[in-house]
Amino acid sequence: MSDSIIFSPFQVKSFTLKNRIGVAPMTRMSSSGDNIPRQDVFDFLIRRAKNGAAIVYTEAIVTDYESAQGYPGQARIVTQRQIESWKPVVRAIQKEGSIAIMQIFHCGRMAWPEINPANRVIAPSAITPKQINPMTGEPYLVPDVMTQFDIDHVIVGFAETAKGAIEAGFDGIEIHGAHGYLINNFLSSYSNERTDAYGGSVENRFRFAHEVIQAVKKVIPDDRLLTFRISNWGVADMEVSLFNSKAEYQEIIKMLSKEPIDVVSVSTYGYKDNAFGTDQNMAEITREVTDLPLMICGQIYDRPSAEDALKNADIVLSAKSLLLNPNWVEDVRSKKRLSLYKPEEASVAYTDEPLP
Ligand SMILES: Cc1cc2nc3c(=O)[nH]c(=O)nc-3n(C[C@H](O)[C@H](O)[C@H](O)COP(=O)(O)O)c2cc1C
Repeated sequence: MSDSIIFSPFQVKSFTLKNRIGVAPMTRMSSSGDNIPRQDVFDFLIRRAKNGAAIVYTEAIVTDYESAQGYPGQARIVTQRQIESWKPVVRAIQKEGSIAIMQIFHCGRMAWPEINPANRVIAPSAITPKQINPMTGEPYLVPDVMTQFDIDHVIVGFAETAKGAIEAGFDGIEIHGAHGYLINNFLSSYSNERTDAYGGSVENRFRFAHEVIQAVKKVIPDDRLLTFRISNWGVADMEVSLFNSKAEYQEIIKMLSKEPIDVVSVSTYGYKDNAFGTDQNMAEITREVTDLPLMICGQIYDRPSAEDALKNADIVLSAKSLLLNPNWVEDVRSKKRLSLYKPEEASVAYTDEPLP
């Protein structure tokens, strides 16, 4: 594959991405009581743009003041102060010719009630992950089954947060539908046993995602991007396939493709891994049923892996390599030999040590 693929432009709506590399969303848990990230965390994002990443995703931003937060020190963007704090960051990223996208999320059954003002855990069904919560060393709490009021309230939270991001100047919004958080809790029968309009058939389990997408779309101008992140794995009970089959996953991707989104972003543990007992990886399985631009993430750590991943996707996102190597984009460009980082090495993300 020629030099021109990774570093060739890609058009999505009115945005011409300067290359095919993006910084994957990474929660940093750096905020204090104001839900504003630390300055060095902002600087980290700007430096990745300066190094040449075409897209910079923010950490997952919490969508409401009731039950959306999963980890201490997460950020919000619903007050004027919070909005103002992001404006210079967005401008600095754009100044480098990169685009800035804010990821927004509700953590659903992964909530840690002590850090949520309403002290609640809510989810489609009263089912917990099987593993112990590593943040507390205790089992996850049994969630309250979401009422229609809860559902409507949470959707308003997504829309209000998207409005905040637009006000701060972001080029796009990403709805986090991956990793075992709320939207994913609805999509997967592993966590959704509802018998109403939000559970049962794939179409019903998709309904919540549909309503969130529609509500967010309404509040963002037409010239901004709307991306949706999906995965077949969650951060708890990681070994579980959250969709029952390739056919079920593809049905969801087909439904997503009818929504007013501009990109589907697929998060994998390893981009090469075969999925659903097939000899295909998640990017191949996704691409088979959608014409949407496709982002892929998971163990893309050097030039050969990026080139290989781009055979089945339009854009590669990297988390750990961009977290730990401030020069990663340039190292990929110069064909430097690089190695894969171990998950433990990423724990530096959560310390108050400024990252280079
Ligand atoms: C420190 C850290 C924080 C993360 N936070 C988020 C997040 O807020 N939202 C999200 O969608 N994924 C998050 N992820 C997952 C990454 O975006 C990515 O999908 C995963 O790390 C695999 O990519 P990699 O092999 O390039 O690291 C996080 C990963 C790391 C290492």
